[in-house]
Amino acid sequence: MTRCLIAHNCTVLMACRNPYEANGAIKNFCDSQQLLHFYKTNLASLNSVKNTSDELLKLDRKIDIVLLNAGVFGLPWTLTEDGLETTFQVNYLSQYYLLLNIEKMLAPDARVVFVSSESHRNIKWSLDNVLAPTVDLLSLPKDQYTSIRAYNVSKLCSILAMHYLGYRWLNTNKQVFCAHPGSFVKTKLCRNWWVYEFLYTAMKPFSKSIAQAASTPLYCAISSEVKGLSAVYFKDCQRYEESDLAQDFQLAFRVQDLTYELLRYRAASKAEILSECEEQNKGPVGEALVSS
Ligand SMILES: NC(=O)c1ccc[n+]([C@@H]2O[C@H](COP(=O)([O-])OP(=O)(O)OC[C@H]3O[C@@H](n4cnc5c(N)ncnc54)[C@H](OP(=O)(O)O)[C@@H]3O)[C@@H](O)[C@H]2O)c1
Repeated sequence: MTRCLIAHNCTVLMACRNPYEANGAIKNFCDSQQLLHFYKTNLASLNSVKNTSDELLKLDRKIDIVLLNAGVFGLPWTLTEDGLETTFQVNYLSQYYLLLNIEKMLAPDARVVFVSSESHRNIKWSLDNVLAPTVDLLSLPKDQYTSIRAYNVSKLCSILAMHYLGYRWLNTNKQVFCAHPGSFVKTKLCRNWWVYEFLYTAMKPFSKSIAQAASTPLYCAISSEVKGLSAVYFKDCQRYEESDLAQDFQLAFRVQDLTYELLRYRAASKAEILSECEEQNKGPVGEALVSS
């Protein structure tokens, strides 16, 4: 995705945790380092996300595209320094927090793309849970944890967040999408357990290449064909209907309340989040932010 955006003369701001990989991308993807900037960000730490947001906010620029792409899968149960289950925080909460923090930098017609997954369909909640979701439903405690469940919950949360933002930005030109990149794409996602590594390797001849997998998120981010659309889920560069649960508008609001509750007690910039996220600033256009 970064390579494509660079090829189209975007300035890309990469929020990632690994300086070695980031510098490799800078060397490989562009001649001029002016186009690609790296912000060291560990999504397992809200404090680190806050530091990145503060650095970004110092730029006198507008952001046209936000790609929320980072993800983990197959981890054993661990808590982050913020006391939340790691997959939930890395795949959803921290990236959403980053977006809220930099919302005032978004261009009036900015596009935000959550990289989600078809596996969100595997989450089935009881009516009680849908009517009154709890923190434990999102940030799974150890006795309810499986890595697949945590992953699927995080991807469901992304789609619900998309619907919430789509509603909040209804009277603006901002657009928000979710994109499924492909299934069993052989990336580093499967690195945490040899069984997944084996499965993804076995599926490689039948699944998308990494470049192909980048196409749907990029389509959402830059295609003129999606102008005027928002809060839509895409797969194979086509509109797809997400699961019934992911379409539940009231659930989207309830999960949003929980998200704010989690951030309110943990995030250093809580006051800013709650008071400033609706603000719109004006300025020059031309940047993309990729969390990867
Ligand atoms: N591969 C698939 O079949 C598939 C299917 C559906 C959806 N997806 C989604 O596609 C997205 C991209 O995944 P991928 O397949 O390209 O996997 P990947 O190669 O493992 O990329 C995930 C990226 O997330 C970063 N990341 C993980 N934990 C982080 C943290 N704590 N702080 C900052 N960055 C962190 C990783 O950074 P490091 O390099 O530092 O670890 C890596 O660059 C994910 O959202 C994934 O859920 C993938």
